[in-house]
Amino acid sequence: MTVTFWLNGQEMRAEALPTRTLLDWLRETRGLTGTKEGCNEGDCGACTVMVTDAAGARALNACILFLPQLQGKAVRTVEGLAGPDGRMHPVQEGLVAHHGSQCGFCTPGFAVSMAVGHLNARRDHDDVLAGNLCRCTGYAPIIRAARAAEAAPVPEWMRQDAALVAETIAVSPAVAQPESADELAAWCLAHPGGTLIAGATDVGLWVTKGFRDLGEVAFLGRCADLKRIEETEEGLRIGAAVSMTDVWQAMKTRQPSYAELIRRYGSDQVRNAATIGGNIANGSPIGDNPPALIALGATLHLRRGDDRRDLPLEAFFLDYGKQDRRPGEFVEAVTVPQAEALRCYKISKRFDQDISAVCGCFNVTVEDGRVTAARIAFGGMAGIPKRAAAVEAAVTGQPWTEETVAAALPAMEEDFQPLSDMRGSAAYRMAAAKGLLQRYHLETTGTPVSVLELRP
Ligand SMILES: Cc1cc2nc3c(=O)[nH]c(=O)nc-3n(C[C@H](O)[C@H](O)[C@H](O)COP(=O)(O)OP(=O)(O)OC[C@H]3O[C@@H](n4cnc5c(N)ncnc54)[C@H](O)[C@@H]3O)c2cc1C
Ligand code: FES
Ligand code: FES
Repeated sequence: MTVTFWLNGQEMRAEALPTRTLLDWLRETRGLTGTKEGCNEGDCGACTVMVTDAAGARALNACILFLPQLQGKAVRTVEGLAGPDGRMHPVQEGLVAHHGSQCGFCTPGFAVSMAVGHLNARRDHDDVLAGNLCRCTGYAPIIRAARAAEAAPVPEWMRQDAALVAETIAVSPAVAQPESADELAAWCLAHPGGTLIAGATDVGLWVTKGFRDLGEVAFLGRCADLKRIEETEEGLRIGAAVSMTDVWQAMKTRQPSYAELIRRYGSDQVRNAATIGGNIANGSPIGDNPPALIALGATLHLRRGDDRRDLPLEAFFLDYGKQDRRPGEFVEAVTVPQAEALRCYKISKRFDQDISAVCGCFNVTVEDGRVTAARIAFGGMAGIPKRAAAVEAAVTGQPWTEETVAAALPAMEEDFQPLSDMRGSAAYRMAAAKGLLQRYHLETTGTPVSVLELRP
């Protein structure tokens, strides 16, 4: 397989297996060892690179980025941050001036994340750097360095990649990279046992940690129509290959609470790669999108060849590891209706860059003080993302009061028998889920609750 892309301004032709990661290729084939391997699973950011395409520049983790995902794009590694004359990038100058590095292992990843943030005029440095772990310097000097670089102009060499990707570059025919949902549908019919790769934030780990041979693979990243977000009469239709970064942007004004949940979804690097379709299709009981989307009443659009069917998202999840998806069928899109009362709560051991122990999403409609409709969904409480049907029934038709909520709490035990694992015990999960219902009631009756606020 040949992949053609730009690397630090130079055109590259990489000959490799479709599941060769950019990190391994950079270090082993190009001798570009500035990009570090820390965790090799997307968690630490030591391998961060800048990837530019027509949509702009973003930070990605090279350790779970397969070479075909780079076709036609431009990659800039830490070696490409300084100017051709050796001049440092303003974020590098900032790191030096503010003592932002001690052992230095994490520093290349930080420098690249900061440079992408600088290029995109980001000021939310905590969010930009939540996916970069440093265990010796401490974050304050690094954030100071990022702030110090804010006023400096973007160096001209950092703008070069956007111009390069506008040039046509040969597309490799040797690996399946469909250009549309129609082409993908044909590929899936012909390869019902094949593996689809969207952002590779799950699949990447099957290779780097599970050492799995994936057999026949198709990459979704070039299907332009699967990356569309459209307003329809039923709601916002989001294509399966839309990244979590783009879902986040779309939800900021429509569903601020869902957007806040996404802010805590992995890290910038993970959100830039991960897709909403991958998060649904993987059927994980602890994926963050499904509870929010189920609470909103989302419809899933599945496609097999030219045969399309729609189903309520909750009906897709049949049992642990089992979804209502036929061989050769794929997720094409999800339609999200608007709702006024949605609140999403993620309980995890760390605030940033962590998987949920429990994720509770609530959408209760109250008219004249009485509940007329309730959609409540949880992740982490069962083998699948699931509605709390007994709790919904217990509050519907009742006045939206503390007494109603208290009377509905035991119904949570009818709905769920959670498991104990390293993220939380069964008892903890049950107590947290009940607490979230109370928190939702408090919030919707005028007592805002913030997990970032300490109260006596
Ligand atoms: C460091 C890290 C942090 C993470 N944090 C979170 C988090 O906070 N919250 C969370 O929910 N998840 C998290 N994840 C998990 C992961 O990011 C998500 O599940 C992600 O949305 C998967 O999307 P993807 O595009 O990367 O999927 P991929 O890895 O490409 O694919 C995942 C699965 O879906 C299938 N698939 C992909 N697209 C389609 C399609 N259109 N139709 C049918 N099948 C398809 C693939 O074949 C595969 O089985 C994290 C992962 C990492 C590595
Ligand atoms: S090596 Fe840790 S995120 Fe890639
Ligand atoms: S400087 Fe040592 S890990 Fe950050």
